[in-house]
Amino acid sequence: MNTLPDASLPVTQSRGELVVIANRLPVHRPTPNSPWETSPGGLVSALMPILRERKGVWIGWAGSSEPACSPFEHDGLYNVPVSLSAEDVRDYYEGFSNSTLWPLYHDACQTPQYNRAWWAPYVAVNRRFAEVAARETAANGHVLVQDYHLQLVPGMLRELRPDVRIGFFLHIPFPPVELFAQLPWRQRLLEGMLGADVVGFQTRHGAQNFVRLVNRYTAHRGSGQTILVNGRRVMAREYPISIDYDRIQQLATNPQIVARSQEIRKELGENRTIMLGVDRLDYTKGIDQRIRAVYEIFKAGRHTVKDLVLVQVSVPSRESVDEYIEVRDRIEKLVGHIDGEFGTVGAVPVHYLRRSLPIEELVAYYLAADVMLVTPFRDGMNLVAKEYVACRRDDTGVLVLSEFTGSAVELDRAVLVNPHDIDGMAATIERAIAMPPAEQARRMRSLRQRVRKRTVYTWASDFTRALTAEQPTGAQPDTVDLNRSTS
Ligand code: F6P
Repeated sequence: MNTLPDASLPVTQSRGELVVIANRLPVHRPTPNSPWETSPGGLVSALMPILRERKGVWIGWAGSSEPACSPFEHDGLYNVPVSLSAEDVRDYYEGFSNSTLWPLYHDACQTPQYNRAWWAPYVAVNRRFAEVAARETAANGHVLVQDYHLQLVPGMLRELRPDVRIGFFLHIPFPPVELFAQLPWRQRLLEGMLGADVVGFQTRHGAQNFVRLVNRYTAHRGSGQTILVNGRRVMAREYPISIDYDRIQQLATNPQIVARSQEIRKELGENRTIMLGVDRLDYTKGIDQRIRAVYEIFKAGRHTVKDLVLVQVSVPSRESVDEYIEVRDRIEKLVGHIDGEFGTVGAVPVHYLRRSLPIEELVAYYLAADVMLVTPFRDGMNLVAKEYVACRRDDTGVLVLSEFTGSAVELDRAVLVNPHDIDGMAATIERAIAMPPAEQARRMRSLRQRVRKRTVYTWASDFTRALTAEQPTGAQPDTVDLNRSTS
């Protein structure tokens, strides 16, 4: 059982003016006794400069069910670990966060589980994070709460520390009314998010869904991007997240990485069209449907292993959750099936790499790939699509992108597909394979401009600027919806 050791740890530095709260710390230890290392990812690098400048604190879980260690400084940032017991990991993280909210918010593409035993641990862990934040935040400081694991934290923190300004950002999709309405705890979750001053989403649709839900299931009223909560104005709008464009470009021009990409091409066969998929091994990513579409292409006989190959990189994730074990089994069976049917000695249609690759190696694969397949059933944003585009400095290559990703809003010059339509996807992939160089260049140039214009630094500065801007209180929403009900 957890006894809240974190909230009572001695404060070893003056409190943070800017505090990030996320389920995970931005650092990890590859083995229990090795030193801390900064975790890869755009969010961490985007927030780092501003956190260092403003006496930043990052509050998060260290990723194991060991008792949390004391706060520590790493790379100029003060990290405050929050402990999760084995039961918390099971009920709050694997249970409510990843077996209730995650599938529901991703269009219920796996059935969400409404297990009553997970709610109390979700509330308790959220309270633990809020209490640590209340202790660590300077007077009138700013707090950025990240993601679906911590939706109750803004409301809890506001009660503990009414002086601080709170931002909440949801990295995953926010579902339409018809889906969210299934949640037995819908009102509590909405009220929790309304504790923030700025509630950020990946897309405008997500923000609109939120305002609609607030009108329907809470006593508060919202219109456009504004919700009035007991005289306090809450802003709900989109802040699409992105990548560190310059870093990816630098990697894509690094001679060693370029040489590695040529080596990959050679190993796979110089004359073959290389298709690439890179995903966390998650059922939302549509990896199995993608392989089925590739199967249809080989089955139609217009391509053989001599001229076409798919490299599928699948990064293991949430491996104790049943649905993740099942999707891995499904994918591995399919890969065996397609390789068995169409492979020859020395050449297979699908190379399946179930591992995490360092960013340098990933960029080499992006450079080697002629066609990038990003086909999730639903995705908050999808940064792989943006990374691929950022790498393609010579304007070659085709991005095949699911219309159900947040990225498709900005990257509308990609070749868009419906991942549920296997035949349609197969036909679209064939079109991508055959796309003339001039069309590839036209599309890729426009895609790259889009990604260059809005990087993860733009995201961080827009979101923190919205939070630090003085907001008039007591403003009226534009219109009032009188048809709402509460639950
Ligand atoms: O996309 C949501 C997200 O929580 C990311 O922030 C994270 O990188 C990814 O899913 C993996 O999550 P987990 O912390 O469960 O490994």
